[in-house]
Amino acid sequence: MSIQQQTKEAVQYIQSNISTVPSTGLVLGSGLGVLADEIKNPVVLKYEDIPGFPVSTVEGHAGQLVFGELEGMQVAAMQGRFHYYEGYSLQEVTFPIRVMNALGVKRLLVTNAAGGVNHDFEPGDLMIIDDHINWLGANPLIGENDAELGPRFPDMSSAYSKGLAKIADEAALSLNIRIQRGTYMANTGPAYETPAEVRMARVLGADAVGMSTVPEVIVAVHGGMEVLGISCISNLAAGMLDQPLSHDEVMDTTSKVQEDFLKLMKETLRRIAQEDA
Ligand code: HPA
Repeated sequence: MSIQQQTKEAVQYIQSNISTVPSTGLVLGSGLGVLADEIKNPVVLKYEDIPGFPVSTVEGHAGQLVFGELEGMQVAAMQGRFHYYEGYSLQEVTFPIRVMNALGVKRLLVTNAAGGVNHDFEPGDLMIIDDHINWLGANPLIGENDAELGPRFPDMSSAYSKGLAKIADEAALSLNIRIQRGTYMANTGPAYETPAEVRMARVLGADAVGMSTVPEVIVAVHGGMEVLGISCISNLAAGMLDQPLSHDEVMDTTSKVQEDFLKLMKETLRRIAQEDA
């Protein structure tokens, strides 16, 4: 079945369950799914029930789409995402973005937990993603291009909306939350980087490293969506401190920064809704 046909089936199923059109999509990364718990009058659809959706396997990911109102906006929130390292193709990883796009979502707020590469970063920092480096060795758009979905050669020169980044920056300032800005590099994982790879990432211009986000952003840009990316710096990347790195540390820091993350996302959404009005 073509991606378009699969998308159509997922959209039909979702539309039979919701009564509003979401304007904004949220992709909530490891430990950051709590934001979806704040959605008013939520309609919750489990990934396993949506035609064409893969099923999430990683710890800390609920695996459901939550629809409803958040800070005055109709949102579609992915509570849990799909990763390349789980064995899914990049087409599968990005299928939910295609579905959101087809539902009418015009902007995407993507979040993740990431390792800090920039020496100025501290665990617990939040970073607005200004740009990315695709280090996956693959691209979700490889294969036949469906011109109805987007162009064969999409421009990536402003993949991350400067306008949305400015709103998030101002939201952080108003809340007195320390905010960083930088370039996110996506590696496949699931192994964390070696210290040598982290030095390489820094030389190449990365400020943070992670295992997600980039495929979703590429597909969102292909489909003409505006993108805001926020990384939660859960740890300093391998070799930067004299200690090993663990998923538990990542989850631990993410839960500590949850409060700031929630405040920042809600204030950013509120400001976007104001601009929309
Ligand atoms: N590397 C890659 N992915 C990550 C990291 C890291 O250090 N921390 C959280 N996700």
